[in-house]
Amino acid sequence: MQIYYFFSVVQKLAASFCIFACEIKFFWLVTTDSRATFGSKFGVILASVGSAVGLGNVWRFPYEAGANGGGAFLAVYLCCVFVLGIPMLLAEFYVGRATHRGAVGAFRKLTGNPFFSRLGYLGVLSSLFILGFYPVVAGWTFEYIWQSLTGNLTGLTSEEFSASFGAFSSSVWRPLLWVVAFLLLTHLIIAGGVQKGIERCSKMMMPVLFVMLVVLCIRSLMLSGAREGLEFLFKFNPSDIHPSVVLSAMGQAFFSLSLGAGCMITYASYFGQSTDLPRTAKVVALLDTLIAVLAGVVIFPAVFTFGIAPTQGPNLVFVTLPNIFSQLPMGNLWSLLFFVLLAIAALTSVISIHQVVTAYVEEEFRLSHAKSTTVVTVVAIVLSVFGSLSLGLLGNLTIGGMCLFDAMDYATAKILMPLGSMFISIFLGWKIGRTKLVDELTNGGTVRFRMAGLIAFVLKYVAPILIGLIFLSELGIIII
Ligand code: PHE
Repeated sequence: MQIYYFFSVVQKLAASFCIFACEIKFFWLVTTDSRATFGSKFGVILASVGSAVGLGNVWRFPYEAGANGGGAFLAVYLCCVFVLGIPMLLAEFYVGRATHRGAVGAFRKLTGNPFFSRLGYLGVLSSLFILGFYPVVAGWTFEYIWQSLTGNLTGLTSEEFSASFGAFSSSVWRPLLWVVAFLLLTHLIIAGGVQKGIERCSKMMMPVLFVMLVVLCIRSLMLSGAREGLEFLFKFNPSDIHPSVVLSAMGQAFFSLSLGAGCMITYASYFGQSTDLPRTAKVVALLDTLIAVLAGVVIFPAVFTFGIAPTQGPNLVFVTLPNIFSQLPMGNLWSLLFFVLLAIAALTSVISIHQVVTAYVEEEFRLSHAKSTTVVTVVAIVLSVFGSLSLGLLGNLTIGGMCLFDAMDYATAKILMPLGSMFISIFLGWKIGRTKLVDELTNGGTVRFRMAGLIAFVLKYVAPILIGLIFLSELGIIII
């Protein structure tokens, strides 16, 4: 009897100890800023560049430039990056670094305003939608790597290339296999944490990507159509600038710099207090633009050498390029190099999108990093399975006349991301104000930043008006 009593006391003591320990852990989580940070300046830059450089640069930029007049598009694109892109990058860096929270927590910490404090949800929602289509395209790069390795991308006519891409992307199992493989790889890296996973992987992969791109550029410049291709990309003809070119260039600049999806906010929440925000923003914008231009230098000379129209649209990379590679000596090697490059670019971007949602789940639901990563990977797999199947089996399931894949792409690139950026600029320009903004951007006055005042002005007036106008005209509400 006494032994039984003794055990029950021990049991109760153990139970209260567990509760006490949990409370201490909870208290510790709440009161200490145990948040992970990137380990070095180099890591900060490469992780942010890794997020920015993605399918947007190597897949989307060339086809958008091709469809919108080449040089004219490039000129407007550069203006958008410098006039809107850098200020918006700084705005997101401000929100993340000043709060050290993921997108949702960051706005809540910055303001009690019922509208602006919920702005982070827009970013998380964008990232969720992006997870529904972006990994699908990323998965296709695995298929093309496989096809290059097995030597299947040779000896087809252009119609056959087009038909085989159509058959593959609308089939059920193969794209699913690749998208799941891609997301599991992303999962492994995110599970490693901010420094050992994201930062280490970006430090390894971004230099490799750059070297591969330079090798491909050199090969492309040796082709007979190099001159014509470069002329198309760089020759500026002002009469080619139409409103639709401006719209496409701005959308592309935002997508390419990962703006409006909570991504740069989340990454900046892992920046240290001494990170030089203006320099980081400039380097990220410059490298992102350089890589997009280099991708153009790879693609247009090749396109002109083989007399193919540069205005192919999204198929440019998956149909036209394999066709071109197959006509070159050692074609499989070049296509392997190109699709590995595309896969690396996509991977570091998918990691950043996944991390936005993972940070949200981890902070808002107080789950461990491992559990949050798993939850988000499962959600991403479900979304992208629907995204992939919507190109074939579930093609009849449409929203506003678009299949799910196109609807998710449209909802993010054309609605949620510009809207998110517009509200962020209004919030910073009008609610946070110039003094706090300049203080954070200069690390309390210790970093020289002569443009700080100009950035505050752009965020207050220029960005909301320009983005607002472009947004309304995208939706067909006004015509400019
Ligand atoms: N910037 C990435 C690209 O160019 C895409 C992206 C968008 C990444 C939004 C994160 C958030 O491919």
